[in-house]
Amino acid sequence: DSFADEIGGIITEYATLEGPLLPMLHAIQEACGCVPTEAHAPICEALNISRAELHGVISFYHDFRDAPTGRHVLKICRAEACQSVGGVALGEAVLEKLGTGWGGTTASGAVTVEPVYCLGLCACGPAAMLDGKVIGRADAGKIDALLAEAGA
Ligand code: FES
Repeated sequence: DSFADEIGGIITEYATLEGPLLPMLHAIQEACGCVPTEAHAPICEALNISRAELHGVISFYHDFRDAPTGRHVLKICRAEACQSVGGVALGEAVLEKLGTGWGGTTASGAVTVEPVYCLGLCACGPAAMLDGKVIGRADAGKIDALLAEAGA
């Protein structure tokens, strides 16, 4: 199919670079919205690396995902400073309200919730980010309102 062709084309294009793996993964994610698991075998084959090596790289860099995100991406800070000022409860409340888990997407496909490890807003935690816009002193109500405003 054209999806596989597109991924195949990217793999071929990047395979000859020096240090090809990260640029290749970024290019695939850019084109497809994720690095789908079907892409793993051809990547390993093209670069002559093991599945374990590939998984290691993909899980080390938090920015690669194996499924496309929802229309909105909500990130909630799970680093220490935020966790100590209500971030834990905030995460739990938001996930419960949206009916999904970390890294998950709501059933309607509207919102993906991702953990993030410090947004540089520690002084006004708990911090979150919706579609790239930071939210300080976040609470479940504020996030709810912003999601509604965004049409999520
Ligand atoms: Fe959350 Fe820094 S720890 S913004």
